[in-house]
Amino acid sequence: MNAEQNMLLTQTGPGTPMGDLFRRYWIPALLSTELPEPDCPPVRVKLLSERMIAFRDSEGRLGLIDEFCAHRGVSLWFGRNEESGLRCPYHGWKYDITGQCVEVPSEPAESGYCEKIKLKSYPLIDRGGMLWTYMGPPELQPPLPEFEFATVPENQRYVSKREQDCNYLQLMEGGIDSFHSIFLHSMSASSDPLLKRDPASIAYIKADPHPAFVPLESPGGLYIATRRNQGEENYYWRVTQWLMPCISLFPPYKGNPYGGHAWVPIDDEHALTFSFDYHPDRPFNDVELEAMQGGRGIHCLTVPGTFRPLANLYNDYLMDRTAQKEGRSYCGVLGFGEQDSAVQESMGPIEDRCRENLVGTDNGIIMTRQRLLKAAKAVQAGMAPPGLDAASQRVRAFSSVLPRSAPLHSAPEMQVTAGGSK
Ligand code: FES
Ligand SMILES: [Fe+2]
Repeated sequence: MNAEQNMLLTQTGPGTPMGDLFRRYWIPALLSTELPEPDCPPVRVKLLSERMIAFRDSEGRLGLIDEFCAHRGVSLWFGRNEESGLRCPYHGWKYDITGQCVEVPSEPAESGYCEKIKLKSYPLIDRGGMLWTYMGPPELQPPLPEFEFATVPENQRYVSKREQDCNYLQLMEGGIDSFHSIFLHSMSASSDPLLKRDPASIAYIKADPHPAFVPLESPGGLYIATRRNQGEENYYWRVTQWLMPCISLFPPYKGNPYGGHAWVPIDDEHALTFSFDYHPDRPFNDVELEAMQGGRGIHCLTVPGTFRPLANLYNDYLMDRTAQKEGRSYCGVLGFGEQDSAVQESMGPIEDRCRENLVGTDNGIIMTRQRLLKAAKAVQAGMAPPGLDAASQRVRAFSSVLPRSAPLHSAPEMQVTAGGSK
């Protein structure tokens, strides 16, 4: 990759090609629990390098508006959320959930002054335990997201959020690079109730230690497929779904919840990771719930009251060299999510992709970059990007033993119908 391509892929601020691409999709902005009730405290949100305030008004309606008061620029995080609007504490200007100014106390109401003042605003909707926003042109707003994790009943999904100290792309590339599990996570899998492997899968993986990485284009992204020989006639497939522009779903081992992530740029050097587990057909059991709430699996414990992981860049992810020596952690960092953060953030705020030396196991990453660049180019040319429709979002990551002659996309395990069943 050259420096120009790296910039194109990693810059998502207003007016950038990748920023314009991201602005064509609904993207997660907050957890639903961050705005639990009418007139609750407003929350600062920075997405795609834009600073905004999210709030729930007295009627329970959600709004995402410019962070700064149109009068003289005070942050509305200090605002009073009352009587169907957010009031700036400095001189009392008040805004509704659409950013419309509804009161300028110093001006006579009959002057109509406040009607001329409107802050930038974006829609905010509650779906699947997350509040999603759409930051693109209003006339191009797509249908609501239909991913399975966002549509199963509440007791069948769990979502966590954390802040990360690097660009979204290197995080996302970790999510589609399944080969690193064999090293980075190798000593942590057996002890984690959400990610432990079943004996049959272990046997399939052991039987062919040199999988082929064969990513294929899917309607809404890519099937990041690894293929292992299984006997003379079959293949053992493991298929991660990558979905435009920043979601990946990974295949569970038998009995475990399905899981995935959404990597959302805060700005070019920070991102939010939303991590979710879900069961298509059943509620979580107590063991799973306790594990997820305890920061296990793909989740991380965070500093109470914040989304900053307890193990982070500034404390070397609580590196434990003894655990590394004793075989409790391959890299010395404890926890799957923490291990991923450590290696991915260690690349620096924006990985210099000009210095890479890619190999066959990076095929999924290479195709993802190409698909993103192609889609960004299409948007610049006035075309719609892929992955906006419900059908392309209703897919599932899976693993399966299939006859060698069977096309991968024919696997019944991949198909999801509305309502969340196969
Ligand atoms: S700065 Fe907000 S009302 Fe004056
Ligand atoms: Fe990982």
